[in-house]
Parts: sequence; structure tokens; C-alpha cells
Amino acid sequence: MAHRAEAVEFQMIDLDKVVSRAIAEFSGTNDANDLEHIKARYLGKSGVLSEARKELAKLPPDERRDVGARFNQAKDKIEAALAARRDELAADELDSRLGEEALDVTLPGRGLARGGLHPATRTLERIEQLFRSIGFDVADGPEIETDFHNFTALNQPQDHPARSMHDTFYLKGAGQNLLLRTHTSPIQVRYMQHHEPPFKIIAPGRVYRVDSDATHTPMFHQVEGLWIDEAVSLADLKGVLTDFLRKFFEDEKLRTRFRPSFFPFTEPSAEVDMSCVFCDGAGCRVCGQTGWLEVAGSGQVHPNVLKACGVDHEKYMGFAFGMGPDRLTMLRYGIDDLRLFYDGDLRFLAQFT
Ligand code: PHE
Repeated sequence: MAHRAEAVEFQMIDLDKVVSRAIAEFSGTNDANDLEHIKARYLGKSGVLSEARKELAKLPPDERRDVGARFNQAKDKIEAALAARRDELAADELDSRLGEEALDVTLPGRGLARGGLHPATRTLERIEQLFRSIGFDVADGPEIETDFHNFTALNQPQDHPARSMHDTFYLKGAGQNLLLRTHTSPIQVRYMQHHEPPFKIIAPGRVYRVDSDATHTPMFHQVEGLWIDEAVSLADLKGVLTDFLRKFFEDEKLRTRFRPSFFPFTEPSAEVDMSCVFCDGAGCRVCGQTGWLEVAGSGQVHPNVLKACGVDHEKYMGFAFGMGPDRLTMLRYGIDDLRLFYDGDLRFLAQFT
């Protein structure tokens, strides 16, 4: 009888309502922490279900089993809803993180491509290396030069007719007569002004002229050579240049010839030709059927130049040459248009790396 009385006092909570309220609260939050707090309110030790379950003790044993089973079902439903909501929130979180990072895997990579030296640079380095191996130093000078260094000191006073062959770019309003150097010979001048002979130098660099076609660009390279000592002759010039060209083209049979020529700053002067590297001198399209290719200007340094640079011209003598490394690069790699050097087209440049 006691049991019955207590059973009447038992207030059965509406489990279905509890379950649907829990599910509604789960889906009402977007916050994972919040979700765990809601869970505690329903499934925790002092949560809604546990508190109500305590009431079970008041039931007679036969009813208790039944109602207990319904509690378990309710608990299972709530737990399943919780797990599902946890998964949803985790997926949302991942989605929004991916969205924020905005990682577009279809974009091209930003990795550093492997670079390489420009063919003109490769040639200059090779020339420097070969001349250093026979004791030459490498000198440098400014690309914006004074009229004095580019012309006057090189035995070409104002109005000298040879100046007209070196038309260039002049700089306005610079106070002095400044210009873009037309050759590397002014580096000789600067070097001689500041050094006591004997010395052997080469001077590679950029030079400028008003010129533009398949074999001429407004900017191109030259390598100047200068050897001053008490007894340096044209035989030394021939030996140095012939030996250099043979090493550069890796051809021991390569021949050179020196043709009389004129430069205001050398006397005597000579153009240097080498046997054509394509036909070995037999005559072909590259050498214009002559068997020879012109590669440098050269000669014995004019006493007036030594004087203008403060070198004792009674004591010292020597030779100078100026060659076109771009031409050498074209011949070495078989390139027929100089403009390719400066187009910046990677399909061309990548062939030399
Ligand atoms: N500077 C001359 C030129 O550019 C080349 C040269 C240099 C000739 C040295 C003789 C001696 O044409």
C-alpha cells in the first residue's frame, strides 16, 4: 500500500518534451562550448534527466523497469542529437577556416624559378677568367663619361673627324660635357691617370652609340685591353689576342690576321680578324664568303695618349685593343640576331642556363 501511495506522488516528466527541447537547444547554438554547457544541463550529474530519474525510486519495481527503459531511450536520443550537432559544428568550423584562409590550390606557385646568367654575362666572365690567367687585372669606369675621357684624352680633340663615327647620347645641363661613353677606351685613360706602369688590364663594360639593326644595338659591350711596360710590342699584342681567341673558341687551329687600320689613339693601328669558326676559313654565309671575321680594333698606344694621361712616353710603350664580346657570344652560340639579347624572352635566355 505504501508503494501505491508513493506512486501517486510520482510526477512523471514528459520525456518526449525534454528530448525535443534538448534537440532544439542543440541546434539553436553555433558555439561548440555552448553546446557542451547545454549537454551538461540535460545529461550532467545534476541535469534534467538525472534529477528526474531520482524520482524513479518512488515507483513500484514493475513500473520502474518500464519507465527506466524510457529514460534510457530519451538519454540515447539526446546523446545522438548531441553527437550529430558536434559533427555539424566541427564541419562548419572547418569550412569557415578554409574560407578565411582562401587557399586557391589552382593558382600557380610562387616558388623561385631557377635563374641563369645572360649569355652576354657568361661571355664577359669567360673573357675575364682567360685574361686573369695570363696576369691581367680587371678595371672598371663610369658609363656616363666626360668629353675629355671619351675623346680628347684619346687624341681626338674637338672637331676631330673620327668623332663623327662615335655619335652618342649627350646629357643636357650637367655643367660639364657629359655623354654616354661610346667605347671602353676612356677606362684606359682613367687607369693610366691613377696608376704607375707597368700594368696589364682588361676593362669590360657597356657602351652606347646611335645604332640599331640586327647586328647593332644602341647599347652593347666592349672589352678593352691595355698593356703598358718598357718594351711591349705588337708581337705581344698578336700573341695575347691569338692565344685568347684560341682558348675562347676552344680551337687550337684558329688563325688571326692583323689588317692595317686607323684609330686616333693608336699608331700603328690594326683591325683583328680571326678565321671563321663556322667554315674554318673556307668561306660561308656567316663570314660573307671571306673566311674571316672581324673581332677587334687594336694598335700601339699613341704617345699623345700617354702624355695626356701623365705616363712618361719616352720610357713606356704598349698596346691596346677593343673587342666586341657580343659578337663573340653570337659566334660561340650561333645566334644571328643581336636584338634577341635584350628582348628578355625566356625561351631564348633559358637555353644558356
Ligand atoms: N675604342 C675603339 C672602338 O671602339 C677600339 C679600339 C680600342 C681600337 C683600343 C684600338 C685600341 O672602335
